[in-house]
Amino acid sequence: MANFSVDKNSCHIFSSFQHTSRYPTSRKNLKTSINIVHGNCLEKLKEVKPASIHLVVTDPPYFLDGLDAGWEKGKSDAPRNTGSVGGLPVGMKFDLKQGKRLQSFIGKIGDLLFSIMLPGAFGVFFSQPRLAHRMATGLEDAGFEIRDLLAWHFTKRAQFKAFSMDHFVDRMDKTEREKIKIKQKLRGRKTPQLRPQFEAMVLIQKPRDGTFINNWLEHETGLIDASVSLVSGFSPSSVMLVEKPNRQDYNRHLTVKPVKLIEHLIKLFSLPGQIVLDPFLGSGTTAVASINTQRSCVGIEIDKNYIEIAENRVKEGKK
Ligand SMILES: C[S@@+](CC[C@H](N)C(=O)[O-])C[C@H]1O[C@@H](n2cnc3c(N)ncnc32)[C@H](O)[C@@H]1O
Repeated sequence: MANFSVDKNSCHIFSSFQHTSRYPTSRKNLKTSINIVHGNCLEKLKEVKPASIHLVVTDPPYFLDGLDAGWEKGKSDAPRNTGSVGGLPVGMKFDLKQGKRLQSFIGKIGDLLFSIMLPGAFGVFFSQPRLAHRMATGLEDAGFEIRDLLAWHFTKRAQFKAFSMDHFVDRMDKTEREKIKIKQKLRGRKTPQLRPQFEAMVLIQKPRDGTFINNWLEHETGLIDASVSLVSGFSPSSVMLVEKPNRQDYNRHLTVKPVKLIEHLIKLFSLPGQIVLDPFLGSGTTAVASINTQRSCVGIEIDKNYIEIAENRVKEGKK
């Protein structure tokens, strides 16, 4: 790990310096820095210089039932009992408005990102598979091209979320005999949730300045590094097999992404020395991956507790 010094008063791509911690990370003659910003990205993104960002890698909130936009349990601002499957535990409810809310939120983020990303710059947005269409539409409406749908494939510890109807039948106002009959008719069928084995990632690109070649010569964005692969001997694939990270006692964030996966995305879609932005930094995985790949990073996070975790991971080189 490089040695980090904390400089809270400088950050070259923000016009305002408030709530910003900067960690210079120069290595191999590349001057890079990690900028961790505390605040709402809907506000903070307005302070970023236009056309300054080479890549966006981010894992936005999805307005899950029971989780609010700030990713806090029990503070959901999602409308309740609308289109939900009645009686399901929190997290299992299906809110038909959730997708529309996500699309509208991501549309606003997309509008802000559009002006600060360089022409040809890529963006990777994690999304639950069932919400990826909303994520993509919100970003497309903001002016981005949808280049691909990528999959983060994992095999370990994938919890089977479908559950049996027996419990609900037992609570029905029926005789025991009738309940047995209903259960027989149901034939052990479960709620429509297969064991999740991947998370979707929407790959976007800001429209290029002219041809791919012209755009690259002007901005060094818009083309991928096809020599980077997770499977040696194979060209990089849209399905990326990387195991989920183990829970760490220094990181209690609910949805930590694997550093190895983020490093891979950064290497594919940007160059050393370039600037990676994560407007939903969470516990700082994108910042750690940026250090490991010699990129600069700007990470914005609304929750002070997660800022602390992110800063510690960056300073201590923790996974
Ligand atoms: C899915 S988590 C990201 C986790 C991250 N990938 C990691 O590995 O730790 C989304 C994060 O976005 C933050 N967030 C939600 N709304 C935000 C906003 N408007 N501005 C900045 N951060 C926000 C939440 O607090 C949460 O930590």
